[in-house]
Order: sequence, then structure tokens, then C-alpha cells
Amino acid sequence: MDYQGTSNDFFFYVNGTKIVDQNVDPETTLLSYLRNKLGLTGAKLACGEGGCGACTVMVSHCDPGSRHIRHYAVNTCLTPICSLHGKAVITTEGIGNSTSRLHPVQERIVKFNGSQCGFCTPGFVMSMYSLLRNSPAPNQQELSEAFQGNLCRCTGYRGIIEGYQTFVKNSCCGRNDGAKAGKCCDNLSHAKTTCGSSRCCRDSTPEPASLSTEHIHPCRPFCKVKPLDPTQEPIFPPELLALANSPPVPLDFQGPRVRWLRPVTLTHLLQLKNQFPDARLVVGNTEVGVEIKFKNKLYPVILEPSYIQEMCVMHWDDSGLHIGASCRIAQVKAELQDAVPKLKRCQAAPFVALMEQLRWFAGSQIRNVAAIGGNIMTASPLSDLNPLLLASRTSLTFSSIDGSRTLQMTQDFFTSYRSTATKDNEVLISIHIPYSRELEFLMAFKQGQRREDDMAIVNAAMRARFCLETSRVTELEMAFGGMGNRTLTAARTTSLLNGKLWNSDLLEDATNSLLQEIQLPGGSPGGMETYRCSLCLSFLFKFYIHVQMELQNQGKPGDPVPMRVRSVLDEFQEEPIKSTQLYQEVPTTQASEDLVGRPVEHLSAARHATGEAVFISDEVPRHGELHLALLTSTRPHARILEVDPSKALSIPGVQAYIGAADVPGDNKIGRIVKDEEVFAKHKVTCVGQVIGAVAADSAELARRAIAEVQVTYADLEPVIITIEDAIKNESFYEVEGLTLENGNVDEGFANCEHLLEGEVRLGGQEHFYLETHAAIAIPDLENGTMEIISTTQSVNFEQQSVATVLGIPCNHVKCTVKRLGGAFGGKETRNVMLTTATAVAAKKLGCPVRCELERDVDMVVTGGRHPFLATYKVGYQGDGRITAVNISLYNNGGNTLDMSSSVMRRAVVHVDNCYHFSNVSICGRVCRTNLPSNTAFRGFGAPQSMFITETIISQVSTACVLPPKQVREINMYDEGDQTITGQVMENFPIRRCWEECLKSSDFSQRQNAVTTFNRQNRWKKRGISIIPTKYSLAFNEPFLNQGGALVHIYTDGSVLLAHGGIEMGQGLHTKMIQVAGRCLGLPVNRIRIADTCTNSVPNASPSAASFSTDLYGMALMNACNKLMKNLEPFKNANPTGKWEDWVNAAYLSCVSLSATGFYSDPELMQRMKECFGKTCHYFSCGAACSEVEIDCLTGSIKALGTHIVMDVGCSINPALDIGQVEGAFAQGFGLFLLEELQYSHLGELRSKGPGIYKIPAAGDIPRELHVSLLSKSENPKAIFSSKGVGEPPLFLAASVFFAVKAAILSAREDAGKSRQFRLDSPATVERVRLACQDNITDKILEPNPESFTPWSVRV
Ligand SMILES: Cc1cc2nc3c(=O)[nH]c(=O)nc-3n(C[C@H](O)[C@H](O)[C@H](O)COP(=O)(O)OP(=O)(O)OC[C@H]3O[C@@H](n4cnc5c(N)ncnc54)[C@H](O)[C@@H]3O)c2cc1C
Ligand code: FES
Ligand code: FES
Repeated sequence: MDYQGTSNDFFFYVNGTKIVDQNVDPETTLLSYLRNKLGLTGAKLACGEGGCGACTVMVSHCDPGSRHIRHYAVNTCLTPICSLHGKAVITTEGIGNSTSRLHPVQERIVKFNGSQCGFCTPGFVMSMYSLLRNSPAPNQQELSEAFQGNLCRCTGYRGIIEGYQTFVKNSCCGRNDGAKAGKCCDNLSHAKTTCGSSRCCRDSTPEPASLSTEHIHPCRPFCKVKPLDPTQEPIFPPELLALANSPPVPLDFQGPRVRWLRPVTLTHLLQLKNQFPDARLVVGNTEVGVEIKFKNKLYPVILEPSYIQEMCVMHWDDSGLHIGASCRIAQVKAELQDAVPKLKRCQAAPFVALMEQLRWFAGSQIRNVAAIGGNIMTASPLSDLNPLLLASRTSLTFSSIDGSRTLQMTQDFFTSYRSTATKDNEVLISIHIPYSRELEFLMAFKQGQRREDDMAIVNAAMRARFCLETSRVTELEMAFGGMGNRTLTAARTTSLLNGKLWNSDLLEDATNSLLQEIQLPGGSPGGMETYRCSLCLSFLFKFYIHVQMELQNQGKPGDPVPMRVRSVLDEFQEEPIKSTQLYQEVPTTQASEDLVGRPVEHLSAARHATGEAVFISDEVPRHGELHLALLTSTRPHARILEVDPSKALSIPGVQAYIGAADVPGDNKIGRIVKDEEVFAKHKVTCVGQVIGAVAADSAELARRAIAEVQVTYADLEPVIITIEDAIKNESFYEVEGLTLENGNVDEGFANCEHLLEGEVRLGGQEHFYLETHAAIAIPDLENGTMEIISTTQSVNFEQQSVATVLGIPCNHVKCTVKRLGGAFGGKETRNVMLTTATAVAAKKLGCPVRCELERDVDMVVTGGRHPFLATYKVGYQGDGRITAVNISLYNNGGNTLDMSSSVMRRAVVHVDNCYHFSNVSICGRVCRTNLPSNTAFRGFGAPQSMFITETIISQVSTACVLPPKQVREINMYDEGDQTITGQVMENFPIRRCWEECLKSSDFSQRQNAVTTFNRQNRWKKRGISIIPTKYSLAFNEPFLNQGGALVHIYTDGSVLLAHGGIEMGQGLHTKMIQVAGRCLGLPVNRIRIADTCTNSVPNASPSAASFSTDLYGMALMNACNKLMKNLEPFKNANPTGKWEDWVNAAYLSCVSLSATGFYSDPELMQRMKECFGKTCHYFSCGAACSEVEIDCLTGSIKALGTHIVMDVGCSINPALDIGQVEGAFAQGFGLFLLEELQYSHLGELRSKGPGIYKIPAAGDIPRELHVSLLSKSENPKAIFSSKGVGEPPLFLAASVFFAVKAAILSAREDAGKSRQFRLDSPATVERVRLACQDNITDKILEPNPESFTPWSVRV
């Protein structure tokens, strides 16, 4: 159908430049357009489902009606390019650059050390930038909400938030009030006081004098950053402003498969909907985009209703609020924020509830684009709005060419999963929410795994109305989401209660009836059946209390609400983060250009922030480059009968199928044993195993083609998924050396006063590096060589593997890494399956081949941290002293060995954590299962076993009725003690860390406060815990403890360094330049570091084990020392000369200006060999104290505060080391409290993206976070007396777990339940709620586990 004035020319503005495209393809996303067509690679692809914010940019649009210019952040991965017609886009490249001018938003994230790997950084920059364009001095809540949709896996968020908190209106230190009344930096007139002060006014922790060691407070860089000048921002393009003056024109963009139509009148829209009844209406594309991408849906016609006046307006009238269906969530939220305070109290109930619900609806990027109509019409059973709208008596107006009708929203509106009682040609025009009336109360609830940016596990809305005279119910409505395949109401319960008085009898009846009505059968999609039922009852209880309090306020008769119960309704409040970072300053005598020990920024941070930093996916495509997608198994254990790629190969642009037959060398790879196939040939042993690959002209085409490859399987038995399955089937890897005996356990048990036995488990963890695995293989046809650029932590292992698979020598394979967007152990070995497959394809096809894994594929194929199960027996005395421990450890290794045995070995030797166990017997076993191989992950087994030990300590202290702190102290190691492996504790200041942590956290006083709080509150509980940690430094495998480096000095005096380590965000390159600067006596701007490459430094050990600074720092020092020796005669001959003079003189004298460096410690090697993997170079240690508050009815956790004291020796770079401490802590927080992998009983990963798998978000980190690096800690065994820092602090997050456990204990005591209880990790909301047993949970019968197949199993 032609419509007058229809345009087919697409145009928009990007960073001020007009882009016109006559062939725009509606299937293209803005992200793909920016990156692939315009070469703007600042915005990153990290999830593709709107769940991480790495792809954020700002869109500006002039509203044709109001001529108001709206600036908003969007996720480009879900933004259809066609929706941007006539709009302007600003990317991080458009606001600043690292050479001439960083934008203040970019500068602050750099200066506050808010960037580590940098993959998330442009996304944070653009979220902040968008906020500031709307609100140059935002408030705290606006700031917090701006980042709800951005994830960072490296930093722990503190640096990012604090950097950006400096933009907040009246942001202040808190020092200008209270007892210590100093003055706020902001209020001081002269800069010197702010910068020169030894105590920044923004710090609010105790004065350093209260610590026993000599710390200084580093002044924050606040006063050294550029102010924001809103007048300097790019203007909105005048052409677009002019465009807003004329009426919008209809659009019609036809792509190869999809047509995009934008009508501008309702009549036209209805005609089109009639003509194309299957067409999707797309506003935000946050549902449709996800369906297209992850469910392979194709919608040939898309209708954009964003310009239909009737659907875009909101107005209030006598009856309530009318909202156009295309109104965005953010618009609705803003309207409510404006209007609700002006409403009469009795009218406001549904709007107050909606406003609160919208605050926790997705992240800001989604809220900015997603429409309210899209949410309703998707009819998702997890919609946050539908239960609330239903309970609020909302009505919906629909139109079609046949006319209009208004439907009351009832349960019948939702007919089944994601479908409604509407006709195909109908369009939702508007939503009407009526005011509430006198004595009508309404509340909405939402409970997710994580508070921020998470879909609900269960949500609900409840409304009750009362007659004027009594507290008798006249109307009642309860609607639930997450309790079935659609939004449900509890009709039977509500009719039962109608007419009854609002009192405890009603509550009892309601609870019993609701329990019958909302039951979930075992095996329900989403699992957590018991928890979900308990949430419904808990919400009911909360609503009951809310109404009771309201009735009480209005003078109605009824039971008074006891004070202890009132906090049941308190919501966790958003508060600014308070933090300090303490470290020892370098001596005043240290030369100013010597940067060792100084808090130098990450060298690449500015390039991260501006989008200039190049990651693999940003590499410019090479001529003739093809894209590879992997074909992976859908069966856990099966014979491959046939692979038929013919259908895929018939698609134009698909070039080849690659499988085992194409491997020119050995198809087998593996780090410890070669038990893994590049392409599975005859058999698959897990879902996600690579069978083959398809090469095509584009990544999109390759992915589409993969779906067309037919694989025929014959399923095999047994299928072993869980550790318990493996134990039952005796399915283990036979590995030596996983036992440890020390002392005499039998004697220890015989001599103890008490015995305790138990079992505990700890789930796995996905690395969730923001940059997924990627590789580019470039064949050199002349020499028969292969160049690999990839995401690996180990270029050496990769080189060996590629050479083996291609059947060529290592000297024919060059592997290079510039930087990684996070790794955390996940890229140590697991990238090799991707790299080798890509190399085989490049070899076969004779052209460059690129393979970048999408997030879901990455999560399915790569494996993660090992889940552990432990059974233990412990003997102890009445004073808590442990006399004997016997532990059996099992980890889930998956389908190949990978490094599972090394992980278990490290677990075995870390079982003691910081405790002197004289009699121990540990036995570790690695389970062979039909899961993707699990692998290294920060901590490498140590956090798991230390968690098990701390669980034992916690159980012992409960049994002894002693404070856990006391039991920890009585068992703690002292300097000079021997560990369970016989190693003597040297330079092991754990007692000092412990004491300082107790002191800085004010432990005793806070513990008293916690006790008081718990006495006063029944449904909110607090807990506090202090936990020590010890970590052994050095690789388990002796030969890996070596490092190489190469240093060149050029004739102009500039220096180029190369070493075998990988920069993955930890700041290794920055530290290496600091080291070289000191060794050569040069300022760092004379030194450059080269990409890590096997051509420069051969046989490099992986960057892992927190040992890279030790290895490569020493190797570099060795190389520099050689060069300094070469230069010495020339320095002596010309003592007043400059560096260039000596270099030049050496060159003219034919003296080498290039040196290799090497490091290994013969004594360590010898010890390692004698005591394989059971000794180390030195120990690092630390302590953390955390306080939490839990909601006993929902299991929600709020981390109130954490104090960390960490021993990193003499820090080479305190800013980077503190960043590592905070980042590791946040990752540990995820491990112990949040992150839960969901596998089906057939080993299929269900949680394969940020939508279901929740890593910590900015709102999760403790509101107070104080990190102190222990001063005066020496370590003669490492470079400049430093200590490794990457992994050791991770376990300190267990302090939050045990604080939660303490809070649960208080709840159980109140409920009269047993004090001794098991709490597995992670302590998810589900586990916390169910551990807080009470009269609600007592009512719920758990489904018989034998009677159903669970939706997910604990592996
Ligand atoms: C990362 C992420 C987080 C999310 N978090 C939440 C959350 O916390 N809570 C929550 O409830 N949801 C959440 N969602 C879901 C989603 O954002 C909402 O459902 C959103 O409101 C859909 O609006 P949209 O404009 O993007 O819909 P679109 O994807 O554009 O359209 C969705 C569907 O609605 C239909 N449709 C749209 N408008 C009309 C109309 N006027 N008449 C008839 N049919 C119409 C379309 O045909 C389409 O089928 C999240 C989604 C993502 C990706
Ligand atoms: S890549 Fe777009 S939100 Fe994650
Ligand atoms: S710095 Fe944020 S993900 Fe790496």
C-alpha cells in the first residue's frame, strides 16, 4: 500500500556527521551499523540482549510536538537502525579523545581508577554522559539509576561510582558536619588545601591515627579534574531541529528479508496492521530484538508506532491517568515523579506503587526505549507491570479498522503463555489507570535474584478496599507474576476474604487459602518452587501489615502492629558510597620520576574511556576475511551418526563447513593430558562440545547457517551431570597427589571433646569477562605460517596447540595479544578450542578467518569455576580449638581434565586457610561428568576449600555457643608456624591484618549495635563477620615458575619492552613500565610496551596464579640490569651526560642495546619438585569484616559495609592493587551470594546470558567500602618486595556470606528453630529465605524430589 509522502531515504547523525543510507537494512542494529559500517568501535558487544550496557551510546531526538530535545542512553545492541531515522547519536568517540581532550566524564573514570580491562568503560562513560546532558548536577538517586544497566566485571564499581559521584549535586565528604567538623573540599577556596591535605575531606572513616601502622590517606583526584562545562557539548543538529517543525513523514525501508514501516497516523497504522496481521509493532525492540536474536525469529514486516500521536501522549483526568501505549517506561516514570506528589493521598496508591515498580524495571537504557504497551502486549508471565495494572483496575483501549473497544484487565485478558485475548489486527492504543479511592490500599512487590536490572522471580500486586465504618474488606485483588505461564489472580482466596475483618484470623485464612491456590508443581519452569510459594505468602504478610498500619493511621479498629514488626515494610535505601583507600606513601627521598610505589593510573585507561583501545573485535577486517560460527553438541553424551551441512552450504555467502576431517595435524589438544578434540569426531560428551564450524562472508550469516546444519545423534548412557551422579557412577579422573595427611587424625578425634560431621557445597561460577572469546587466524601462504590474534592468557599454550593441530612446528605459529577485556582464568586454556578451530578453517580456506563468540555460545562452551562438594568430620574442644579435621573434597571437572586436577591440588593445600590444624586428612577427587570442562578461575580452587573450612569453623562456633571470631582467633596461625604442608610461615602478618581490621571496622561496637538491631526487629536482621585469608603464591606446576622479557633501547633513547605476560585489565603493563623506569632510571614516557607475542618472548607461562608481576618484573629487571651494565662505562666516562648521550655512545661503540631477561628461582624449583604442588614461594594474607542486613521474608541482602586490610607487600602501584582488591572482592561477592549456574538435568546450561545469570551490579557493593593495604610488609622473594594481588583478596567476600549466615541465625533464634543449620554457597535470595525458617515456610510442603524432573540441578 502506498501512502502519500512516504520516504525510503534513511538518515541520521552520528557525532555531528550526517549519515545517509538508501539501502538501510531493517535487520541491522545500531551497534552493528556503528562498528561495521562507520568503524566506530567504542561501543562494545558483550551480551547482545540489553543486559550489560557495554554498547551504550546517547541518542538525541527532538519531539515534533513539544520541540523538546530528549537525550537518552540506549543499548545499541537492541536498537534497530531504522528507529533512528531523523535522530542524532553521540558515541564516546564523539565527546573526547586521549590525545587532545578528554571529556570530564572520560577523565573522571580514568582518574578515579574506574577502568581496568576497559571493555565496559565506554558504556559507563556514555551512561554518565547521557545523564549529565539532561541533568548537569544530578542527585544521588539519578546517579544510581543511571548505572542500573551497566555491568563491570573487573573494578568492583567503587572507582566508577566515586568518580561519577563527583558530579552529584552537593556531593560532599561528610567531613563538614559531625564531630570531626573539618571543611568540605568543595567549600575550600584554595586548591592547595584540598590536594595537599593528608586527609581528603571526602573520606569519612576514622582518622588514620586510630590505626597502628603508618598509613596516609591518599587525596582523591577530585580537585585535579576538569569541571563539567555543559555549554561545550555538541549541539543538536540544526537540520533535525528544523525537521521537528514539519509533520513527520511515513517511512518504508525494505531490506533483503525485512520491511520497516513507520506510519504517522493512526488510520494508516490500523490499515497496515490489517494488511499485515502478523507484523510486529516495535517501539523499544527490547522484546522483539531478543526474540529475533535468541529464538531465531524472523518478522518480515515491522511497524513502528512511535509517531502516532494518540499512542504517545499521557494525560490525567477526573478518573485517573491515560497513558499512550507507545509511551516509554522512562517517560511514565518521569510523569509519575512529577505528578504523584501533587495527588491526594487516597488517590495515589496505584501510582505510588507503579512509580516504585518502575524504579526496579530493567536498567535505564531499557527504560528509555521500552514502551508500556510492549510490556503489556508481550504478556510475559514475568512482566512487572501486568500484576500491578491488573490489581489497579486498569482498562485497555484497542483499535482496529473495525473500530475501538475497551477491555478491563483481568486474568482472562492473558489467555496462555505470552498471548492475549486480542485480535491479530488490533492495536493497543492507551491504558487507563484509575485513581484509588478512600480506604483503598495497594502495594506491589518484586523479587529478583538481584535488586537492580533483573526480571522478577515472583512479583505481585495486592489491593484491598474497606467500608468506611469498620475494617471490613469490601474489595480485594491479588495478582501474581512468576507463578504460572501468565499473570494470575487468586480469585478463590479473595472471594473467601471479602467481607471479613482485617485481623490475624483473616491473615491465617488468607495464607492457608493462597497456599492452596498458588501451588507450583515440582519441575515448573524457573524452578525454586518452594521459594516462589513462600514469596507469595511473604508478600501477603507484608501487605497485611501495610494495610493494618494504614487502618491504624486512619483510626480504624484492629490489632496494633508491634514495633518489632514494623520494619518489615522498610525498603533498602539508596545511599552514596563511602569509601577510603589507604596505603603507605613512598619515602620522600624517592626520585620523583621513579614511579614504583606510586598510584599511577592504568596506562590504557584514557584509551579505554574514549573507545580508542583496540580489542580483537575492533580489529579492522583483513582483505578476504571470513567469519566462523561453531556447531556445538545439543546432547550430553551421544554417538555422532551423521553431520549434514548441505542446507547451510546452500545459503549464498556461506563458504565452507569445517570438521574433524579438515584437521591437518592432531585433532587432540589439552593442557595436562590431550583428551580434548578440536572437532568431535565420533562422540560428544557434553552439550556445547564443538563438532564443526561454518565459514561465511559475515558473522550473522555464519550463525544463521549453523542453525541449518543437521546432526544425527544416538544417545549414550550414562549421563553424568552432578557430583552426586559422578560419585554414584564412580566417575573420576585418576590423578595422583590429591591427598594430604598431616599429624594423626585418628588420635585427634580420639582426644577431642566433641565431634561434628557435615556436608556443604559451593556452586560454580561463570567468568563473565565482558569481552567474550575471539580469535583471528591469518595464514601466510608463502611461508606456510599462521598468525593468531586471540583472547588468550597463554600465548605459549596457544602456539603449541595450533602448531599441533596444523601439524607444523611452533616456529611457524605466531600468537599475539594486545589486551584482553577481562579473563579471570577463563582464557587460560579454554580459548584454544576456538583458536585451533579458527586456524584449521584459515588453513583450509587460505584466507583470514575470524571467530567471535556471542555471549550465549561463550557461556555454553567454555565452562567456569568448579562446583565443589565436601563432606567433613571435625574434632574440637569446648573452647573452639580444632584438634582434627577429615575432609573429602569433590569438584565437578566436566568432560575433559583441563586443569581440574591442579585446581583440586590447590584446594587441598588451602584447606587450612589461616588455621593451625595439627591433624588433618584431606582427600580430593575430580569428577568426570558430561558438562563442558571446568577450568581456572581467580583463586583456582582455593576459595572453594577455604569456604569449606570457614563453614566448619562457623559450625563449631555455633556448637560451642562461642562467637565465630573467637574460634577463628584461637585456631589462627602465627608467624613461624608450619602449615599443613610443612611450610614455615614467613612474612605472614595475618595477626596484624586481623587486628587492624578489627580496629578499623570498630568490630566490637558494631557487633553490639547488630545485637541491638536484631532485638528490635523481627523480619529484618543484621549480621557481622570477620574472615581471614591466606593465599600461596607460585604456580602449582614447578616448570611454570619462569618468565622472560626483552628490552630494546633505540638510538634516540626510547625504550621498547616486551615480556611474556598478558594485559587483561590487571595493569600488568603499567607495573612493568614502572619497574623498567626504576631499573633504567628513566621517566615512563620514554618507555613503551609491545603487544605480547611469541615472536618476542618465547615459551611464556600463562598470565595466571597472581604471579605475572613476580615473574615478568624480575625478568625485566634482569634484562634492564644487563643493559645498565652495558651502559655503565659510558655513564662513567660522561657522568654529567644524559641518557641519550650514553645510549648513543654505546651504539657508536658497537655495544648491544638489546637484552633478554629471564627469571626463575632455583630454590623454589627444587622445593616444588620435591613436594609437587604442595609448597609455594610465599604467602599473601588479609582480613575483611562485613556487615549486612537481610529481609527474612524475601531473602534480599544489603551489604552495609566492608573493611578490608590486605597484605600486598610493598605495593608497586597502590591504585592498581586496591583496584584488584576491590574487583576480586566484588567477584567473590558474586561467587558467594549471587551467581548461580542453572543446568538442566541433561547438562544444558539455561543461564547463558546476563538475563538469567546475575553478576554483581553497582548497587550490590557495600555502601561503605574501606580498603587498606597493610603497611611495612616486606617480601624479599618478589620484585621490589611486592606481593601478588590478583587472586588473594577474592575470598574476603566470604565475610559477607558469613555475616548473612549470622543474620539468618538470629532469625532462626526468633523463630525457635535449631541454631545449627547448613547454608550452601551461593547464599542466593532463595537460600537465605528458606534458611530463615518460620511459620510461613513451615506451611509449604516441598514437592517430592522423586516425583518430577527438576528444572535445574545443582551440578
Ligand atoms: C535487559 C532487559 C531487562 C528487562 N527488564 C524488565 C523488567 O525488569 N521488568 C519487565 O517487566 N520487563 C523487563 N524487560 C522486558 C521489556 O523491556 C518490556 O516488556 C518492554 O516494556 C517491552 O517494550 P518494547 O517497546 O521494547 O517492546 P517491543 O519489543 O518493541 O514489542 C514487544 C511486543 O509488543 C507488541 N506491541 C508493542 N506495542 C503494541 C501495541 N501498541 N499494540 C499491540 N501490540 C504491541 C509487539 O508487537 C511485540 O510483540 C526487560 C527486557 C530486557 C531486554
Ligand atoms: S551488548 Fe548491549 S547491553 Fe550488552
Ligand atoms: S573494566 Fe569493567 S569489565 Fe573490565
